[in-house]
Amino acid sequence: MLKPELNRRLTQVGPGTPGGDLLRRYWWPIAPSVDVGPEPLERRLLGEDLVLFRTREGDVGLLERQCPHRSTSLGLGYVDQPRTPEAAGSPSGLRCGYHGWLFGTDGRCLEQPGESADSTFKDRIRAQSYRVQELGGLVFAYLGPEPAPLLPRYDLFVWDDVWRDIGHAELPCNFLQIMENSVDPHHVEWLHGRYDAFLRELSGAPASEVLTKKHLKVAFDVFEHGILKRRVLEGQTEDDEDWKVGHPLVFPSMLRIGGGGLNFFQIRVPIDDENTWHVWYQTYQPGGSVPPQETVPAYEVPLYDSRGKLLRDYVDGQDITAWVTQGRITPREREHLGSSDVGVIALRRLFAEQIDRVAAGEDPLCTYRDETTNQVITLPQEKEKFGGGDAFRREFLLHGQTRYSPILHDVLALFGDHDLVGRRAVEPV
Ligand code: FES
Ligand SMILES: [Fe+2]
Repeated sequence: MLKPELNRRLTQVGPGTPGGDLLRRYWWPIAPSVDVGPEPLERRLLGEDLVLFRTREGDVGLLERQCPHRSTSLGLGYVDQPRTPEAAGSPSGLRCGYHGWLFGTDGRCLEQPGESADSTFKDRIRAQSYRVQELGGLVFAYLGPEPAPLLPRYDLFVWDDVWRDIGHAELPCNFLQIMENSVDPHHVEWLHGRYDAFLRELSGAPASEVLTKKHLKVAFDVFEHGILKRRVLEGQTEDDEDWKVGHPLVFPSMLRIGGGGLNFFQIRVPIDDENTWHVWYQTYQPGGSVPPQETVPAYEVPLYDSRGKLLRDYVDGQDITAWVTQGRITPREREHLGSSDVGVIALRRLFAEQIDRVAAGEDPLCTYRDETTNQVITLPQEKEKFGGGDAFRREFLLHGQTRYSPILHDVLALFGDHDLVGRRAVEPV
C-alpha cells in the first residue's frame, strides 16, 4: 500500500513535478527513424506536445507543437525550402500549414509570408526546440535542463552483426506499473504459464513447459544500471545463468531480456501520466556475419482483437492486459503487497531516491557524461535463458509479439529454424 501523495510523486511525468524533473534528465526514444520524414509527426512526451520532422538535408527537428503565431498545430505543416531572397540558401525547415511561417530545426522563425519584406518581426519569434539524436534506428529526444548528458550507447543500439526491428504501441496506462512488472518474476509462471495454459487448453494446444516452471528463489540487486533480476526455477541450480547472470531493469524505464541469440529492450516511454509508448527494440544475433540492413523496420503492435478485447493469446499481450487493467494510474493505496513483491518495493524505493537526488541538484543513476565510458555500455544478460537458449528462442519467436514483425520470416531463416520457417506472423483473431 502506498499513500496517494507518494503514488502521485512516483507517477507524475509532466513539467514541474518531482517525477517529471527526474525523467527529464534522460534521453527518450520518440519515434523510429524510418517514420520521420517531411510530413511532421505529432508526438507527446512527458506531458508535452511536440512535432518531429526531417528536413530535406536529413536533419531531424523537434519543436513545440503549437505554432507561435496563432497556435495551430505545426503537425498541420510540411518541410519546405525558404522562399524569400533573404533566406535563400538556408536549409529547409518546417512550414506551418495555416499562414506559412517557416521554422528551422533550432526553432528560429525564418519567414513570415504575410508580413512586409523589410519587417524584423520574425527575428523576435522562436518556437521552443529540443535536442534530438538518432541511434540504432530510433530518434531520441532530450527535454531536460542543460548541460544535457550523453545519449547512452547501450549495447543493442550499437552492436554490429545483428538484425533489428522495432515494434511499438501506445498503452493506456502509466509507465510505472509497466516497470513494476519487470521486477515481478512470479507473474511469469502464473500469467504466461498457468493462465496461458488455460487459454491453450481451450484451443486444444499443449501448455508451455518452459513458462510454467515454479520460481524457487529470486533476487533483486540494485547496481550501476538499475536493478539486476535473478532467479532459480524448478529443476535449476544456482549454477544456471538465470541465477549467476540474470538480466537488468535499466533505470529508469527499460528492460533487457532475451536468450538464444535474441536480445531485446522493452522501453517504456511516458507519453503523459496516463499513457505510455511501449517500444520493443529487438535484435537478432544468429552468429557469424549478418547481411546488412539498410534501415531498421518498424511496425505497430496490435492491442485488440476483432471484438475489441485486449489480445491475450501471447506473452506480451498477456502483460499488456495485466498492465492496462490495473487502471490508468493503478490505485496503490488499495493494494496488498506480500513477500513476493519485494522487487516492486525495491523499484519504488529506487525511484524515490533518484527523485530526491535530482531535487538536491545531483545527476541521477545512469547519467553519462564521459565519452570514453559511453562507447558501448555492455549490459549483463543470461544467454541460456530458462535452461536453454534454443528452447527460449522457439518459444519467443512463435509466442512473443515478434510474430507481428515484418522480418520474422527472414529472422527464422537466419537462425536456421527451418521447421518454423513457412509459418507467417499470426494475425490477431
Ligand atoms: S498559426 Fe502558424 S503561421 Fe499562423
Ligand atoms: Fe510478463
